[in-house]
Amino acid sequence: MAREILVLNGANLNLLGTREPEVYGADTLDDIVDELSRIAADSSYDVRAVQSNHEGELVDALHDAARRETAGVVLNPGAYTHTSIALRDAISGTGLAVVETHLSNVHARESFRQTSLISAVCLGVVVGFGRTSYRLALDALISHLDD
Ligand code: DQA
Repeated sequence: MAREILVLNGANLNLLGTREPEVYGADTLDDIVDELSRIAADSSYDVRAVQSNHEGELVDALHDAARRETAGVVLNPGAYTHTSIALRDAISGTGLAVVETHLSNVHARESFRQTSLISAVCLGVVVGFGRTSYRLALDALISHLDD
């Protein structure tokens, strides 16, 4: 049976495609998830995608992923990246292999976006490549899992 990778997206990422396209691109979240699903299938992983605008639901999704013995997570928490101790604790508490992912280069933006509360408990971080960030994150996660 193929192992599962969770693609977990947080606040406002359901608006991709119409939300500030000059910052986040013109692709929808469905476009991105479809591409990731195809790539993952080539390496015998199934992608399960979850998006929520609610911090606690993102925490629950990580707990659920751990219970399901999900192989790893591509995570873009949106603005919760910069504020959520609860998400950080969920990552460290579950021990899940998580790659933090951002469409925009958060380091080139407002100062409040330059701090991530989750990076230190993630395997690694991909920022700034638009839709390609997700593909790079998935590639890195699969390499890590298959090593
Ligand atoms: C984002 C960057 C965050 O600062 C922002 O709040 C988002 C999207 C990104 O993918 O570039 O919602 O995570």
